[in-house]
Amino acid sequence: MERKIIKTDDGSVTIHLPEWNEQYHSKHGAVQEARHVFLKMGLHHFLETNNSKVVSILEIGFGTGLNAFLTLLESERLNIQINYTAVEAYPVPPEEVKLLNYPEASQAEEKTDLFLKLHDIEWGKSSSISDHFSLMKMEMKFHEINENSLYDLIYFDAFGARVQPELWTEEIFDIMFKALKQNGVLVTYAAKGSVRRAMIASGFQVQKLPGPPGKREMLRAVKN
Ligand SMILES: C[S@@+](CC[C@H](N)C(=O)[O-])C[C@H]1O[C@@H](n2cnc3c(N)ncnc32)[C@H](O)[C@@H]1O
Repeated sequence: MERKIIKTDDGSVTIHLPEWNEQYHSKHGAVQEARHVFLKMGLHHFLETNNSKVVSILEIGFGTGLNAFLTLLESERLNIQINYTAVEAYPVPPEEVKLLNYPEASQAEEKTDLFLKLHDIEWGKSSSISDHFSLMKMEMKFHEINENSLYDLIYFDAFGARVQPELWTEEIFDIMFKALKQNGVLVTYAAKGSVRRAMIASGFQVQKLPGPPGKREMLRAVKN
């Protein structure tokens, strides 16, 4: 499938898939979207409602590593420990990684080496990226995940239901529900009624929240 690196409205780039007319991030701003959906509505909310200095995160779709990088920066700023596991079946090739301007676009150019390290580490093995952040990348399909009460937080960042409807089903959210600890939280940029209903059918309590600039709503699902 053809892939193009394009600039989004906040100056950060993303990968565009012309055949699907789909991007890895919002065209309105990749960094801006990731900060709103995953950091503000996910990580910050989890920390406000749980008294914890260690957070385990599962990312659905490692892709460009943007969410992992912003979370790493946040772990240093907040002085917390983050153990991050990211699942990805189709890793972004090194020649595309070189074109991603995330350190600069997130005002952290001096951390470029850490961004590259996120991509360079071995798959299937937990690696320490910084004093506050460890990463385990798993090269597998989402529906192969089979974990029980391991994660505090899930960043659900699959391509949209328009192009991959099979990733937004009750079957997938059952897997996510099981992988979360009690009181665990899942956040996603999506807000479709069918997605919300699939989450509820899996046992989640679901809330609609204001979306990032350019998107009216997003969802947060909690395992009570
Ligand atoms: C929206 S993009 C992820 C964006 C990513 N979080 C980032 O910050 O760049 C969705 C990702 O899911 C991956 N993917 C698609 N189908 C998958 C599947 N069935 N299992 C695992 N990964 C899949 C794609 O390769 C892509 O990297």
